[in-house]
Amino acid sequence: MKAIVLKAAGGTEQLEWTELPKPAPAAGEILLRNEALSVNPVDFKTRKGGAFFAKLSETPPIVLGWDVAGTVEAVGEGVTGFRPGDRAFGMVNFPGAGRAYAEYVAAPADHFAHIPDRISTEDAAATTLAALTAWQALVHRGGLQAGQRVLIHAAAGGVGHFAVQIARQLGAEVLGTASAANHNFLHSIGVAQAIDYRARDFRDVANDIDIVLDPIGGDTALHSLDVLRPGGLLVSIVGGAREQVVLAAQQRGLRAENYLVHSSGADIEQLARLLEGGNLQPLIEHRFHFTEMAAAHAQLETGRTRGKVIVTL
Ligand SMILES: NC(=O)c1ccc[n+]([C@@H]2O[C@H](COP(=O)([O-])OP(=O)(O)OC[C@H]3O[C@@H](n4cnc5c(N)ncnc54)[C@H](OP(=O)(O)O)[C@@H]3O)[C@@H](O)[C@H]2O)c1
Repeated sequence: MKAIVLKAAGGTEQLEWTELPKPAPAAGEILLRNEALSVNPVDFKTRKGGAFFAKLSETPPIVLGWDVAGTVEAVGEGVTGFRPGDRAFGMVNFPGAGRAYAEYVAAPADHFAHIPDRISTEDAAATTLAALTAWQALVHRGGLQAGQRVLIHAAAGGVGHFAVQIARQLGAEVLGTASAANHNFLHSIGVAQAIDYRARDFRDVANDIDIVLDPIGGDTALHSLDVLRPGGLLVSIVGGAREQVVLAAQQRGLRAENYLVHSSGADIEQLARLLEGGNLQPLIEHRFHFTEMAAAHAQLETGRTRGKVIVTL
């Protein structure tokens, strides 16, 4: 099968299009014919030698990627929820070896959900790691309740645009930061107040926030404590809840925590239901072919992507 291996830590020239043996599904796994995948900042961070590079180096060859969508080719022993021919999607084996940059991917069946009939394979592929992060951070970690006020930083990005829609769907009022060019988009997905972080300090606009979702870190994480109401929670997905921030939060009767997404078929199923009901809509702003993976990485590395970047096979 065609696959892209990472030869060594470095630039996109280290991504090599090659042939690898087609995997076989072990007990409890499904073998997916991969038709669309999504790329995330963790892909290029790992490619450069950070994030999960060391861990993936333990089981060469290194094949990046975690987000897949396609058709079930075969199922391993004991799998009852999927049959060959079913369409399925998921974020597989995160934060281990997902091996998504390949024509076929074998992974635990309980990392997948069925793709709803009226949902395209590309939309399903887009609604994986970024959407799961938003769901798990807001619902599981945040315990988000209807009527709460939520501030989503980088609200136009991959995680952000899902977080906005999920928070709205759960009945929250949403404030979001983005550059001015993205404000119409933010309003279109349900942001009540869009804040241009380049033109003003978000603390001048946001207040009485129950949950802040932080994909930025640094001062953005620290300053976010200033907008929380008593008992409020900062959830950082980029390690922004460092010791100093956690201590500052505790002293003020607030909470600050880091969060790392994990594979979960049950959570993917929740996202499938939202997609099916038309209550979650991925924005796919950039599409590349599997042979253009370097360009897909380059787009993400701009840090300016609106919505998601998808790669089709
Ligand atoms: N811990 C976890 O489990 C986890 C999971 C997923 C992602 N992450 C991390 O979270 C971060 C975001 O991921 P992503 O997929 O959402 O990335 P992304 O799609 O590449 O984010 C791009 C967006 O960030 C916005 N942005 C950039 N700088 C900003 C700033 N200072 N303030 C507000 N918005 C800003 C841009 O909007 P403008 O162009 O308008 O500035 C753009 O729309 C990455 O570092 C990623 O590795 C962590």
